[in-house]
Formats: sequence, structure tokens, C-alpha cells
Amino acid sequence: MKVPPEYLSHASVELRRWRAADAELAGRLVRESLEHLRPWMPWATDSYGPADAADYVRRCEDSWADGSAFQYLVLAGGQPAGSAGLMARIGAGGLEIGYWVHPGFTGRGVATAAAAALTQAAFALPGIDHVEIHHDALNLASGRVPAKLGFSPAGTGPARFELAPGDSGTTRVWRTSR
Ligand SMILES: CC(C)(COP(=O)(O)OP(=O)(O)OC[C@H]1O[C@@H](n2cnc3c(N)ncnc32)[C@H](O)[C@@H]1OP(=O)(O)O)[C@@H](O)C(=O)NCCC(=O)NCCS
Repeated sequence: MKVPPEYLSHASVELRRWRAADAELAGRLVRESLEHLRPWMPWATDSYGPADAADYVRRCEDSWADGSAFQYLVLAGGQPAGSAGLMARIGAGGLEIGYWVHPGFTGRGVATAAAAALTQAAFALPGIDHVEIHHDALNLASGRVPAKLGFSPAGTGPARFELAPGDSGTTRVWRTSR
């Protein structure tokens, strides 16, 4: 199985694969971002703690190994700034990009640069001919990312996964093709 590189970069944003040894860092980033993530990420609850972070980075290793997802720590100017990845959950030939950014780093193009790097990495994989970004219709900041990257609107539909408190339940899909 072909996998993307463990390190990616775009402008001043770098991505490096999450490792099981990153549990403490992952936990700190999420805890500091909780208020900001809570409306949109169902897992971002007050009870989020070290065990959740350890479980997350372990699952990142597992999903990398089985090819179901490739998740990265995002660094901006060398500082840990969020998380982003490619997920094989939209059917054959496609990968979906997901992202979140620490509130201390938002509004300066970090998610857009991370998604640009991931799009390029996805199209370097054999058999990948389209990349999608899905977000709740109310999550306007998230929707700016694919719009700025030139993805095309590809419709709306009911949410496929558990809703977060700010979600409307309508998912907007953006797509770019090779
Ligand atoms: C969505 C998110 C990843 C964007 O990260 P970011 O690094 O700030 O993104 P960028 O700087 O690349 O672009 C953000 C865009 O959203 C815009 N934006 C920010 N808040 C907004 C709001 N409330 N309404 C509309 N647009 C908004 C910014 O102005 C910018 O657009 P512009 O460049 O046209 O001005 C970040 O806000 C986040 O982590 N949110 C919480 C988690 C989340 O929603 N993840 C995505 C789930 S699908």
C-alpha cells in the first residue's frame, strides 16, 4: 500500500505525522482549543483528557497502518497549531480532508495551507482522482478553506456522523479532481 509522506509543507505551514509518543502534545493542543472546537467537533467535550489524547494518537498510528486515514500535527512557523489529515471514507478514488486549528493560530491561512499540502499529497497517491472537504452548512470559516483553494461546490446532504452542538445537520461538500 502506498502512503503519503510523513512530512509535508506548504508556505510556512508544515505537517508531520501524529505518533503515539505525541499524546501529551495532542492533549494540550485540544484542551487549549476546547471552547473553539466544541461547536463543530463532537469529541471536543469538557471531559476530554489525557486518555482521550492517548487513544487519538494510537488510533492515528493504526489508521496510518491500515490506510484508512493519514493524520498530521500542523505546525505554523514551527509552532504546534492544529491537526489535519486525509481520510479514506468517501469511496474508491477519493480522500476527504479534515482540519482544526488552535485559536491562537486562526485567521492567517493555516488550515488553507495545510489543506493545500494534503491535496497535493493525495493526488500523488495512485488511484486518487478526487479530494473532498465536508463541513456543516453553518461552519462558514471551514467553508472558506475549500473555496479559497478552488474546490467546487458538490452539493449538500444530511450529516453522516455524530453532530456537534453548533451543527445544523446539513453537510456541504466541496470537491476537486485531478
Ligand atoms: C475552520 C478552521 C479550521 C479555519 O482555520 P484557519 O486556519 O483560521 O483558516 P484560514 O485562515 O485558512 O481561513 C479561514 C477563513 O474563514 C474566515 N472566517 C473566520 N471566521 C469566520 C466566520 N465566523 N464566518 C465566516 N468566515 C469566517 C476567515 O476570514 C478566513 O477567510 P478569508 O481568508 O477569506 O478572510 C478553524 O476556524 C477551526 O479550527 N475551527 C474549529 C474546528 C472546525 O470547524 N474544523 C472544521 C470542521 S469541518
